[in-house]
This record gives sequence, C-alpha cells and structure tokens, in this order.
Amino acid sequence: MSKISIDWRPDRSSSVPVYKQIIDYMSMKISTGDWAVGSRLPAQRQLAKQFNVNRSTIVTAMDELSSYGVLESDFGKGTYVASNTWSLMMTDAPPDWSRYIQSGSFHASDPIIQECRRCEADPRFISLGTGQLSPSLFPREEMSRAMERVAGKLSALNYQEPLGLPALRRSVARRLQRDGIDISPSCILITSGALQALQLICLTMLKSGSTVFTGDPSYLKSLQFFQSAGMNLSGLPMDQEGLVYWQIDPERIQREEALLYAIPDFHNPTGTVMSADRRKALFRFCQQNHLPIIEDASYRELWYDEKPPATLKSMDKNGMVLHIGTVSKTLAPGLRTGWIAGPESVIHRLADMKMQMDSGASTVSQLILAEFFSSGAYDKYLPQLRVQLKSRRDTVVAALERNFSQIASWDAPAGGFYVWLRFDENLSARQLFRAAVREHILLFPGTLYEYGKSCSLRISYAYAEEREILYALARLSRIVRSMM
Ligand SMILES: Cc1ncc(COP(=O)(O)O)c(C=O)c1O
Repeated sequence: MSKISIDWRPDRSSSVPVYKQIIDYMSMKISTGDWAVGSRLPAQRQLAKQFNVNRSTIVTAMDELSSYGVLESDFGKGTYVASNTWSLMMTDAPPDWSRYIQSGSFHASDPIIQECRRCEADPRFISLGTGQLSPSLFPREEMSRAMERVAGKLSALNYQEPLGLPALRRSVARRLQRDGIDISPSCILITSGALQALQLICLTMLKSGSTVFTGDPSYLKSLQFFQSAGMNLSGLPMDQEGLVYWQIDPERIQREEALLYAIPDFHNPTGTVMSADRRKALFRFCQQNHLPIIEDASYRELWYDEKPPATLKSMDKNGMVLHIGTVSKTLAPGLRTGWIAGPESVIHRLADMKMQMDSGASTVSQLILAEFFSSGAYDKYLPQLRVQLKSRRDTVVAALERNFSQIASWDAPAGGFYVWLRFDENLSARQLFRAAVREHILLFPGTLYEYGKSCSLRISYAYAEEREILYALARLSRIVRSMM
C-alpha cells in the first residue's frame, strides 16, 4: 500500500474554514487520481503538524470524508483512500436545504396565498380579489413623461440618506399637511411600500409575545410575517363604524407590550370607513391606556364622493400614532414606495433598521414619485381614478344584486377597492376557492383575513376588466348555489 506525501498547507487568510479547506484538498487529490484507492494517509498527528492545526481539525475533516465513504480507517493500517467514484460526488451534493428552511424563524405564507400569487400571474385567470389597479387605470402617458423628465435630470443613482430622498419627503409632508397632519419632512421615513413600514415597526419596536390588536378581519392577519415574528395578533370585532375598541381589556395593555393596528379608511378587506365619532373615541381610549396606534392609510385617497373623516394622526399631539401611507393602491405598487410619519426619534430608529436591511428604498422609484407629485400629475390623475373606481363599484354592486341577493349580503363601499361578500349559509370559503380555481376564477377567501371560521370573500373590483368581473360573478353565483 503506497503512502501519500503532502506538501500542501491550508490558507490561513482565507474565509473558508480550515477543516473545509482540508476536505476540499483531499477530495481534489482523490478525485483527480493523484491519491490512488488504497493509498495510505500520514498519521493524524503528522497531518496536524504538517497543516499546523489542532488534531481535532484533522479528525473533523477525516470524519466527514469517511462519512462519504471516501476514506476508511482500519486499525493497524491507519487511514486509507477507500473510494474515488460515486461517493466523491457526495462532497458536491447540495446541502439539505429543507432542513435549513424548516429551522428558519420565518414561516411560509398560507398555501392559499401562495396559490393566489401563482394564479394572479396566469393570464387564463380572472381575478376577483387582486388588490391592485387594472393596467387600464394606469396613467401611462403621465408616468412616461415623469420618467423622461427624471432621466433628463439624472446625474447619479446613488444611495439616499437614511430617511429617503429629501424632495420626496417634502412632497409627502406637504400632502399630509393638506390632510390636517402637522408634520415635517424630518419625521417621515420613505419605505419600500407600506408592507415594509409594518415590518420595520414589527422588527424594531415589538418583541416575540407582544400583542397587536387588529380588526377581525384584517389585512394584517393575512401577513405571515407578524405571526412568524411571534406577535400575538388579537382580533377585535368590527361594526359599521369601525373597530369595536372597547373590547380591549386595558389590563392586557399594561401586562403585555401592545400596539393597535387600524385601517380607518376603506378597510382591507371590508371596505368600512371608521366614523368620525369612532375615531375620536378610539383615539381617546388609546391615549388614556397608553396604547400606541399604527394607522394604515393605504386607501385613504381613494374616496368617491367625500373625503373620509380626519385621520387619527391629525388628532395626535403626543406622538402616539405612526401613520403609514403608500402609492401602491393609488398609482403603482411596482414603485415599492411608501412612508411612515411619526415622532422623529422613532423615525430615526426605524430608518436605521431600514438601512441595516436594504440601504434604503429604490432611488429610481423615489425620483420618479417625487417628480410625479411635484409636477402636479398625481393631483390631476387622482380625481379621474376616483370616477373610474366609483363606476366599477356601481357595476359590481349591481351585479351582486342580480346574482347574490338571495344568498349573501354586503355593504357598498364609499371608496377603495373591496366589497366584503358574506354568505348567508355556512359554506367553506376554501372549498369555494378550489371550485372557482377549476374554472379559472381567482377568489380571496375571508379565512385569509379572519381569526375564526369564515364564509366570506373579499371581492376587488379594481383589477379585472368590468366585463370579466361580470362574467366571473355570474359564474361564481352558480358555483356557490351548487355548493349550498
Ligand atoms: C391595508 C394595506 N396596507 C399595506 C399594504 C401593502 O402595501 P404596499 O404595496 O405599499 O407594501 C396593503 C396591500 O394590499 C394593504 O391593503
């Protein structure tokens, strides 16, 4: 049996761990045939000296190669090369990713949400649930012009300061001021959408076991993120005027770190607008009980006939409301641009977290949106959008009356995208989802948003074309009747 001599040494300056370098080196020698099957390796003590490492490092490397069947040890013969064929491939085998994925702290989305995303990308589907604007409502020409102007002025595409592009923050501050929120640009953080604003709050200000009060149903319930982070989501009933906040046990607020999440304007998924009285009473309750509020105003600008009542943030004199906005619902979710307005100290802490995560929102998107705001294009476009969404709302409500009046109930929304369709009979929204998918109709079941059992659907009239919505609603009513 030939004995192997070695003149190689591990690279101490490399970021690859030494034991791994030893495995790679030995695998290479064996697979290239330099070390023949049956040849004997120097003793472990000798290798440790040669490589200038502890003996335990040699043992770790050899154990791993032995586990692949590449090396074998035999008392008396020492360690020798046992194989140079299939088993060598094992060193290149991919790691067991599923084990890693299972042990990660963030869980996969609900399988239905994953399927919704797949169906949304499939052109054969008509979506009755998608929460974004139809391409036919997109202001293509105004957006192209804004982009051209940005391109004409471009001198660099560098990172922005932690709070985001100053010109965009000034525009957002002006818009908020017009809406009764007295805020300066230094209290605004630009985020990659409202979703990231929520994630930043979750990561920076809450810990596992913290309680987040939300409506039942609520958009937040559909986000696996908060649940993965160990938040205790607690659903509050909702009535025609909004959150039934008085069901919050004040003692629970004292006991647990808690926040309240509210979508006062054209709520996702119910479409409800919180009344002015409810807003005032809710704000008073939170103030008395030291319960901070996250106000999600994602749909606020999408009113049809009248503006919703004043924001919770506009009542806030002590910095207890974090106000979130976005252009995802009004203009372009693909810009991934939103914001949080709040007390300067909190905003700076959130900005630091954002820098740690992604070094800031897209500079291109921020430049485009700043241009779209400051040129007046956004203010010109919004009223037209409201008219079109209102007309879609009317079409859908008429179609619901034709198809569902015997079997379901709903309230006509005064803005936003959604009608919350509640079936009279207890039918499984998930089964209904499956049955509709077979007919290439995509539904968003209420179970995604509710805490208990649900027989509701979130219908969005913003995305599909009106004739498609009419066709899909008629089909849906037949599917529902056949299931009842
Ligand atoms: C209430 C609410 N908040 C936040 C978001 C996320 O918006 P963005 O695309 O800005 O992250 C959505 C999107 O559906 C929403 O409905």
